[in-house]
Amino acid sequence: MNSSPIGVFDSGVGGLSVLHHIRTELPCEHLLYIADSAHAPYGGKSTEEICARASALSEFLIAHDAKALVVACNTATAAAIAMLRERYAIPVIGMEPAVKPAVTATKSGVVGVLATTGTLQSARFAALLENYGQNVRVVTQGCPGLVECVERGELATTATRNLLNGYLQPLLEQGADTLVLGCTHYPFLKPLIRELAGENIALIDTGAAVAQQVRRRVAEAGLLSPATMPGSVRFWTSGDAVLGREVVGKLWGEAAVEKM
Ligand code: DGL
Repeated sequence: MNSSPIGVFDSGVGGLSVLHHIRTELPCEHLLYIADSAHAPYGGKSTEEICARASALSEFLIAHDAKALVVACNTATAAAIAMLRERYAIPVIGMEPAVKPAVTATKSGVVGVLATTGTLQSARFAALLENYGQNVRVVTQGCPGLVECVERGELATTATRNLLNGYLQPLLEQGADTLVLGCTHYPFLKPLIRELAGENIALIDTGAAVAQQVRRRVAEAGLLSPATMPGSVRFWTSGDAVLGREVVGKLWGEAAVEKM
């Protein structure tokens, strides 16, 4: 089982921002990735709908021999991680917006959180604020439409720029000096965010921390691969395979993308 792959999924291509970190952290592991692009965005979906998708994707990955599951999506983690952990005995690693490190990093005392509506309205996010957001001001901003821009591979078009600017300005006007990228699609917009928000704003995401957590959890379960050669990566999309290949090419590099 130690040579089995680690399965990773997201509502679409956003989780590739996490996959990059997993590849660096665990270069010899085989990886599977599903972009559930036919069902993106998850941000406005009900908990039941997201749980149904998370189940279907997890079953698919386990049928392909996954020894661990990584939910590379803040929205799906908020909705479905408890259900997945109850159902599967293998390690299940999720993620949440980086409020804790942002609270430590801010100098202005104002932290801005960019995330999907689903994440911001979740009980897990409320608990996160309760635990870590007490001594600073945390201002949140839902970002409808932004995931779709990344799904189309539009990282710097005028439409993406205008949409993003409309979400950033209220946070900056309220004095935020630290922005949490609370959705795995948003790290791909970092160059544009930097340009719009300025170089002095700190941008925080959890990709690297999640990859370290994947290593820890897989090691604790005694499942780290003994391999010393670089591992493979296999991609699927539930959406259009041609578009999937084009966008994966942009965000990851040239790769075959199979239709799920
Ligand atoms: N990448 C997902 C996240 O981290 C995006 C959710 C969506 O599809 O709306 O939240």
